[in-house]
This record gives sequence, C-alpha cells and structure tokens, in this order.
Amino acid sequence: MDAGSEKPKRKRVVLCMGAYCNMDRRAKKLYPRLQALVDELNGDTYPPPIKLEIATCLSMCGAGPNLMIYPEALAFNDLDEATLERIVKDHLAQE
Ligand code: FES
Repeated sequence: MDAGSEKPKRKRVVLCMGAYCNMDRRAKKLYPRLQALVDELNGDTYPPPIKLEIATCLSMCGAGPNLMIYPEALAFNDLDEATLERIVKDHLAQE
C-alpha cells in the first residue's frame, strides 16, 4: 500500500429498518427515496463515493426513523421525506 497517497473521501449512510423505526412501514417508505438520491449523487463513479446500508437498530429507537452518516457519525431522527432530502443535500452532496 502506498502510505503517502490520499484516500478518496467516502461516506456511508445507514438507514435503520428496525422494528421501531419501521413502525407503520415508515422507514421502508423512505428507503427508495434515499436510494434514488444516493444513486443520483454517485452517478457512474466507481467505487461509489456514497455507500447506502440498512441497519436493524441504531440504538435510538424512540426517535425513529433514524439515519446515521459516517465517517462523521452524524445522527438524524424523526425522518420524513422532506428532512431526508435536506440531509442528503446538506451532508452528502459534495463538490
Ligand atoms: S429500531 Fe431503529 S434505532 Fe432501534
């Protein structure tokens, strides 16, 4: 490995699909929108700069639906589609 090379800045976004976050299918309804937003930002870049994952619990159930962004470890709660779009715009869309 070349220690002096600069690593690409990659992000990981994790949407909780656990029982509390997905009560009334709330998180499941958000996932396709999040996936579309991430796909749009990733474009044809390989490896994709943003990796989308799901979790079964992020240990903050009462505030769900919840999402985390790494490597910053930013937590977002009470998601709906509008807040999801704002979060993606503010924290994932980069130049
Ligand atoms: S079920 Fe989502 S944080 Fe626990």
